[in-house]
Amino acid sequence: MKGIILAGGSGTRLHPMTQATSKQLLPVYDKPMIYYPLSVLMLAGIRDIMVISTPADLPQFSRLMGDGARLGVNFTYAVQPKPEGLAQAFHIARDWLAGEACALALGDNMIFGDHLSLQLQEAAKRDDGASVFAYQVADPERYGVVTMDPHGRALDIVEKPANPASNWAVIGLYFYDKDVTEMAAAVKPSARGELEITDLNRMYMEAGKLHVQKLGRGCAWLDAGTPDSLMQAGTFVQTIQQRQGMLVGCPEEVAFRMGWIDAATLRDHARALGKTDLGRVMMAIAEGHR
Ligand code: TTP
Repeated sequence: MKGIILAGGSGTRLHPMTQATSKQLLPVYDKPMIYYPLSVLMLAGIRDIMVISTPADLPQFSRLMGDGARLGVNFTYAVQPKPEGLAQAFHIARDWLAGEACALALGDNMIFGDHLSLQLQEAAKRDDGASVFAYQVADPERYGVVTMDPHGRALDIVEKPANPASNWAVIGLYFYDKDVTEMAAAVKPSARGELEITDLNRMYMEAGKLHVQKLGRGCAWLDAGTPDSLMQAGTFVQTIQQRQGMLVGCPEEVAFRMGWIDAATLRDHARALGKTDLGRVMMAIAEGHR
């Protein structure tokens, strides 16, 4: 399975912070925002990853992340000329995907929780249909909302409903089977002129191929698209890291734990971060102390 991180968009809710830089490069505590969805895809076992962003911002991502060899993964970069919707990712990635299954992660979504890697790896292994994750929120009208029967089967899925039928929001991480390129090609622009991911998910649902997995209260899902949520995400990462001495959203650590780089390489990465706390914790992990 391949993976896409969608890191374009206009970021208007974060102006003026995002007028001269990409939202997904803004810091969330001690790392650029994109490190968090990147770590999630890597935890799912995905090593071929395409980063999609705006023509102006894409060079900064490749400067930050390079070709991925230092993490034992492959990064490819592609431009989205205009933010015309999340499902457009599969048009842009069509040739690169070459008919493979693919996960899509939104560059400003952060997910963290116990047993998450197992759930991610299960979704990545499923080779028939699509898998999405639902999370209970207080403000479902801001998201794609799913209603389910008592067995957790999806009954309906609606983008930003005025009167949400449930408070289960679909989070910004989607796993699709190898039919995704073909299915996405059939998505038509919505009233707001975007190729909606919810329409793609509805197609899978209508074909009886949409798996919805509920994330419980032991999981945190944050999107860092407004000043408040950006600040909350930063505080969340700071709290966990300082309290537990563990890292959240560190691709170097994930690469090491997945066995894609060895301890000596992780030590090199830790040394390159000099005197930062991040570097110190990475070094402790490489030495087997965490
Ligand atoms: P949004 O938060 O819906 O949009 P945005 O980032 O443009 O922000 P704003 O509403 O403040 O103007 O996008 C969700 C994620 O998807 C975010 O990481 C940006 C990304 N995105 C794209 O890369 N391309 C797109 O066409 C769209 C709609 C979003």
